[in-house]
Amino acid sequence: EKQGYRHFMLKEIHEQPSVVRTCLEAYINPDWHSQNSDEENPITLNLKPEIYEDLEHIQIVACGTSWHASLVGKYLLEQIAQIPTFVQYASEYRYAPSPMMRNTITIGVTQSGETADTIAALEMERQRRSSCDRTYQARILGITNRPESTLGGMVDQVINTYAGIEIGVAATKTFVAQVIAFYILALDLAGRRKTITPSRMEEILKGLLQLPTQIEQIIHSEEPKIRDLAHQFPDTKDFIFLGRGINFPIALEGALKLKEISYIHAEGYPAGEMKHGPIALLDAHVPVVAIAMGGSVYEKVISNAQEAKARDARLIGVLPQNHHEDMFQDTLIVPEVDEILSPILAVIPLQLLSYYIASMRGLDVDQPRNLAKSVTVE
Ligand code: M6R
Repeated sequence: EKQGYRHFMLKEIHEQPSVVRTCLEAYINPDWHSQNSDEENPITLNLKPEIYEDLEHIQIVACGTSWHASLVGKYLLEQIAQIPTFVQYASEYRYAPSPMMRNTITIGVTQSGETADTIAALEMERQRRSSCDRTYQARILGITNRPESTLGGMVDQVINTYAGIEIGVAATKTFVAQVIAFYILALDLAGRRKTITPSRMEEILKGLLQLPTQIEQIIHSEEPKIRDLAHQFPDTKDFIFLGRGINFPIALEGALKLKEISYIHAEGYPAGEMKHGPIALLDAHVPVVAIAMGGSVYEKVISNAQEAKARDARLIGVLPQNHHEDMFQDTLIVPEVDEILSPILAVIPLQLLSYYIASMRGLDVDQPRNLAKSVTVE
């Protein structure tokens, strides 16, 4: 039921605070403090011990939005847990797998648990590992919203994202829940491998627990603004989304959302790559959305946005509070948070922007043309 919302997608965007809360509550021990950190790990993921044993690498296969969540996951696993992580498109990996690596976890990320390419890539991985010694065994995980799915039946262990059923074809709440699952996994591994100090662990946990309220705040303050902004692009044919570091995947996700439901051509780029090609596309008709979330790459993204401005691009900034920059024609403001947590907040205004542009154009937001909720064919 849409419960008064015009579309399931909008309802699902609004459900994100409670989805994040549920997912965090499932995996975080709220009584943990850095002072009693000797006693236990604050994360209750309960993976089998052999999954952690001598772990050297993580390999992730996924498609579409789940692939974007996996790219954020790579950042977290490498920066927090110090584990080299490789993210592959499942449709590519199944025909060109990387050489076998021992002591490696392979994770299939799929909200539906039924995506044919992801299932086939994992099946291939399972089979080729089965004839190898035990350093290759029992290391296949799934991150999914449906543990009862085909994926759930074929992996050694499932991490449930607890997002609840998602009906809109454009993934929103399941994306955010997948990213939360990666925080949980990265923190769990970091705690065990001691690649994080207890006080930093506590800092990140506290930050995570504030995300639901902060998402609510964004929806409350930015949704009316975004609804109006959407009316300014009735004939726009192209959009560019720029992000860097942990928010580069959010640029990809913002672009994918827009193209899926509004049929506007959109590209997501790492902001520093723009000058290597896409800058040639820019003129006054191409809006550029720059995700400048503060933290280590803030100045860099701002200077990349300036390069776009110099080509007359119409600039929209996704910015943290108190970082107003005059060059942006429009700003979508989110609470200022630790850089490592920023993707969860940055994606919210982009979901709303794509929703309102598509709905303003009168399109079938929940059932966009040529797309299915789960792609069960190759
Ligand atoms: O069910 P999955 O997560 O495996 O689906 C993967 C993609 O098909 C999916 O994310 C697709 O890109 C969505 N329509 C994105 O909104």
